[in-house]
Parts: sequence; structure tokens; C-alpha cells
Amino acid sequence: MNITKLTPWFLFLCLILLSDYRKVKAHERTQKDGIFGFKAKTLFVFGDSYADTGNTPFPIAASWRFPYGITFPGSPSGRFSDGHVSTDYLAKYIRLRRPIVYKWGRYTLPGSQVARRGMNFAYGGAGVFQTIYEVVPNASVQIDSFEHLLRRNVYSPADLNSSVAFFSIVGNDYLAYARRNGTKQGRPAFIRKVVKQILLDVKRIKDLGVRKVLVALSPPQKCWPSLVTPKGCDTNDTLAHLHNSLLRGGLVKLNNEKVDNNDKSFLMFDLYNAFLTIFKNKGAPGVSKFPEPLKACCVGTKPGHSCGDISLIGEKLFSLCKDPKSFFFWDNVHITDQGWRSVFSLLLPDSKF
Ligand SMILES: *[C@@H]1O[C@H](CO)[C@@H](O)[C@H](O)[C@H]1NC(C)=O
Ligand SMILES: *[C@@H]1O[C@H](CO)[C@@H](O)[C@H](O)[C@H]1NC(C)=O
Ligand SMILES: *[C@@H]1O[C@H](CO)[C@@H](O)[C@H](O)[C@H]1NC(C)=O
Ligand SMILES: *[C@@H]1O[C@H](CO)[C@@H](O)[C@H](O)[C@H]1NC(C)=O
Repeated sequence: MNITKLTPWFLFLCLILLSDYRKVKAHERTQKDGIFGFKAKTLFVFGDSYADTGNTPFPIAASWRFPYGITFPGSPSGRFSDGHVSTDYLAKYIRLRRPIVYKWGRYTLPGSQVARRGMNFAYGGAGVFQTIYEVVPNASVQIDSFEHLLRRNVYSPADLNSSVAFFSIVGNDYLAYARRNGTKQGRPAFIRKVVKQILLDVKRIKDLGVRKVLVALSPPQKCWPSLVTPKGCDTNDTLAHLHNSLLRGGLVKLNNEKVDNNDKSFLMFDLYNAFLTIFKNKGAPGVSKFPEPLKACCVGTKPGHSCGDISLIGEKLFSLCKDPKSFFFWDNVHITDQGWRSVFSLLLPDSKF
């Protein structure tokens, strides 16, 4: 065999090796930079109690009472959980310090270290519209606060250009609709209104200069422990299905509006499928086991009471499970530390939780 016959094969082989090498490189890059595809340096969070890390004021929130916070940080910290919530896990995932809560960070000076940490504008009870909790700022007001900080130049254009946002408004609008005795017939129209407002909100965040926005889809709305019957819960959840399909469609459209639509600005955080996977498997494979995933760890002992309630004479009006680690739901609505860990391990498989 002479060399001229060999050369094409040799080149071919080199090309294969080279392309494999490229693939490995690309793979390494996505592993390192995660879903966002670049090294995010600042995290902004807008949302409700699933994301709040202490904004909701003391007197109105159970999150400031025992036993909230018993796993982390050991005492109540304003988180609606026994420990970490979504914001904490997301910050950990992108290897950033936890964003400071707006309540403490609102007077921050431009360029300070505190500002660099990013900020959490989420309030327990928030929706895109006014909810049953009147004092709680809706998503638009949360974004107004962000815009105000930008006008004060608390964040430089470079800070913003390497920032990501998490938008997590997942159900208080529907709770408010039910409390206002909204009709079943009127519900689809209301869902359209909510999703339309979410899309306006996330686009506004992006237009303010944030590089990418991660948007939470709705979890199943009928599987809160308080609504679960002995037969389980109805996972054929038309409300959540309509909400999520409209939201997905809207986000895809927003992504396609961009000239460079390979670099997607809007990403989805699919709580619906994460929850269902956890319910079905009684946990997240290799991460957690929840023998009764639809039961809450901390519940009121009498109707009308909930986790954290005490009577006027200081009597406990709730019961607490022995091992919060073996529960997905912390109270009738919120997720345990271990529950959130499981959700993140499912939705961001390159994470190490
Ligand atoms: C949010 O709340 C503010 C203040 O209460 C209100 O003016 C605004 O209309 C609300 N936004 C939406 C979208 O409902
Ligand atoms: C933002 O960062 C990207 C990538 O690093 C860069 O290409 C782009 O020009 C920057 N945009 C601004 C407004 O600084
Ligand atoms: C909703 O209906 C219930 C009972 O039918 C009633 O007691 C309540 O006042 C109504 N709430 C509103 C906001 O209309
Ligand atoms: C889900 O519910 C709708 C009506 O609410 C029904 O038409 C549909 O067949 C159900 N799907 C499943 C898989 O049960």
C-alpha cells in the first residue's frame, strides 16, 4: 500500500477524531455553564412563596414562625419550607451566592458587593395580578422595584449583560380567582389573561437588559395535600395544562422573535413534570425517597389551622413529622428542602444536588 492510497483514510480518521473532540468540548462547555450556556454572574428573582427567601413581612407570614426553617438555617428565615427553596438551589446551581432579599437590599449603593449578589424580589402570596393578600406586591410591582434600582445605576450594563432572572409565579392568581367565586366557564379566559400577563412580565425583564430568563411552569394545581382525597389527586389537570401549553407557546414565540434564535432568551422550568415524576416514583431516583409524596410534613391539627399556628395561650395547633427529609410537601402548599433538591435534580440533571 502506498501513501497516496492511505492519505484519504488518514484524513477521514482525523476528521472523525476532530469532530469527536469538538463534541466533547461542547459537552464540557454545557456542563460547566449549565442550562444558561454562559457563566451567569448575577441572579434576579421574581415570584411568590416558592421563591421568596425572606421578603414577606413578619406579622403576616407563617414563614417567620416555628417550625419553618428547622432544617436550614435552623430557625425561621422567611422561607416557606423547612430549609432551602428554589432560589437557593438555583443560586447554588449557577455557583453564585444567594441573592439578597429586596427588603434588605433596596437601599444598596451602585457597585457594592451586596449589589453584585443579585436580588430576590419574590414575595409569598404574589401573583401577576392582585391576589387575596392585598399588601403583597404583584409581579409588575416587583419588576418596578428592579427598574428603580437600574435607574439608580445599582447594576452596571456589564452586570446586567451577565445576569439571569428566575420568574416563578405559580398559582396565587388562581387561588384568588377561586376565592372570588370565579365561575368554571370563566376560567379558561382568566388563564389566558394570567399567561398573557406573565409573558408581558418576562419580556419586560428581558428588555431591561437581563440576558436570560428562566420561567417556571405551573405545577399540578389539584395535588396540594389539602386537596388530595384518599384516592390520590387528579393529575389530569386541565387548568395547569392550559396554563402551561399557552405559556410554552408564548415563550417559544418570544424566542423565535429574536434574530439569533439559537441563543434562546427564555427557558422553561417544568414544575409540572417534575412534580408528577416525583409522585409517580415516590421520590427522585438516587436523590430522595418520599413514601407518601402527597402528604405534608407539617399540618394543622384542626380544620382552619395550618403549620405554624399557635393558640392565644400558646398551644401548638399543628403536628410536625419526625423526618422532613422523607416528605416532599412541607405544609399544605410548600415543598421541603429535600423536595426542592429532588425537583432540581430532575430538571437540571447536570446539577449535583
Ligand atoms: C399590580 O399592582 C399595582 C399596585 O397595586 C397595580 O397598580 C397594578 O395594576 C397591578 N398590576 C397588574 C398587572 O394587575
Ligand atoms: C453581552 O455579552 C455578550 C457575550 O459576552 C456580548 O457578545 C455582547 O456584546 C454583550 N452586550 C452588551 C450590551 O454588553
Ligand atoms: C363566595 O361564595 C361564598 C358562598 O357561596 C360566600 O360566602 C362568599 O361571600 C363569596 N365570596 C365572594 C368574594 O363573593
Ligand atoms: C381529562 O379531563 C378531560 C375533561 O376534563 C377529559 O375530556 C379527558 O378525557 C381527560 N383525560 C384523561 C387522560 O383522563
